[in-house]
Amino acid sequence: MRVYLDQAATSWPKPPEVLQAVEHFFTDVGCNVNRGGYAAAYGAAEVVLETRERICSLFGFGEESSQVIFTSGVTAALNQLLKGLLRPGDHLLVSAMEHNAVMRPLAQLAEQGISFDRIPANCEGGMPEHRLEAALESLLRPNTRMLVTTHASNVCGTLMPLKRLGRFCRSHGLWFVVDAAQTGGVEPIDMKAMEIDALAFAGHKGLLGPQGVGGFLIRRELADRMEPLIAGGTGSFSHLEQMPEQLPDKFEAGTMNLPGVFGLHAALGWLERIGIDTVQNREQQLLERLLEQLEGVEGLRVLGPRSPFQRTAVAALDFPGRDNGEVAFRLDQAGIMVRCGLHCAPNAHRVLGSYPQGAVRLSTGWYNTPEEMDYTAHVLRNILKC
Ligand code: ALA
Repeated sequence: MRVYLDQAATSWPKPPEVLQAVEHFFTDVGCNVNRGGYAAAYGAAEVVLETRERICSLFGFGEESSQVIFTSGVTAALNQLLKGLLRPGDHLLVSAMEHNAVMRPLAQLAEQGISFDRIPANCEGGMPEHRLEAALESLLRPNTRMLVTTHASNVCGTLMPLKRLGRFCRSHGLWFVVDAAQTGGVEPIDMKAMEIDALAFAGHKGLLGPQGVGGFLIRRELADRMEPLIAGGTGSFSHLEQMPEQLPDKFEAGTMNLPGVFGLHAALGWLERIGIDTVQNREQQLLERLLEQLEGVEGLRVLGPRSPFQRTAVAALDFPGRDNGEVAFRLDQAGIMVRCGLHCAPNAHRVLGSYPQGAVRLSTGWYNTPEEMDYTAHVLRNILKC
């Protein structure tokens, strides 16, 4: 049996129409956009535009679809947002559960005099429920510009209270930037209601598109202030040797990943048809089925929140007294694919008490089955017996 439980790293398999859309691009389309003055190029541009519109409606973005910017992925999107918006002397707040896609750009920015404070976390990786606002206020400085948080921990799935954070940011004049790498397509997100100023997304995880495409949505006011990190041809304003101010061109120099966008377009269509609630329920039920069979089993600790309402369909397991790497190896020998280690989020593991040994992460997706959960529970119980 081959069981893929590394859906938090990248989802697999993809809906058949995603594969068909990528094939259709290479077989029947093949051209560039914004450059060629012929029907095929205009047709491809239509698909790109429709993809931006689908992204806007998925994330409840109340502004223009030209403010959806495509990048190579969520890491490039976060680099653009952090490095393009922050200036020397600025300060920001970050959650304690950030992935290195946020922490490493911040480490680079620290060399330019940009500093940050981490928001305190409880032992499940969540933000304090009581007096969260007071905790945030105590961290504010006159130069605090931004609050950045992941929507959900990539290690153990803990969800962050976006609505409360958004309200706090709005009332304190901070930009609110959210990393939706782990939640796009599997958790409802309403940028307007949550008062999110910029949201970074990955195309290849919960959105079920191909790898190599992601991006961000950004409110106009921030887009106007943000410096582009990459400069080059946009197919527009070609008489200028400076980057145009027009969106999305300002942040989309060079040829975009068009096969990726075609695949994402199809994936978003699939998601609209099935509905996020249905996807979320299925993934959570699968993980619950697995965790229920592991309850009470000795030698195993589930990190993060136990309730499916407080996390995405991700479980991080620690095997005290054992080498977690060996457990992952034995799962692999049984055909079960998981991610072991620190998951590019060392501080999240410090919070969860699993640093430096890390954890074995299991994450479910739409195409997993109940039988796969039963098999995985059976294999894990056998590993723990000997
Ligand atoms: N950030 C991805 C993960 O959590 C790759 O595995």
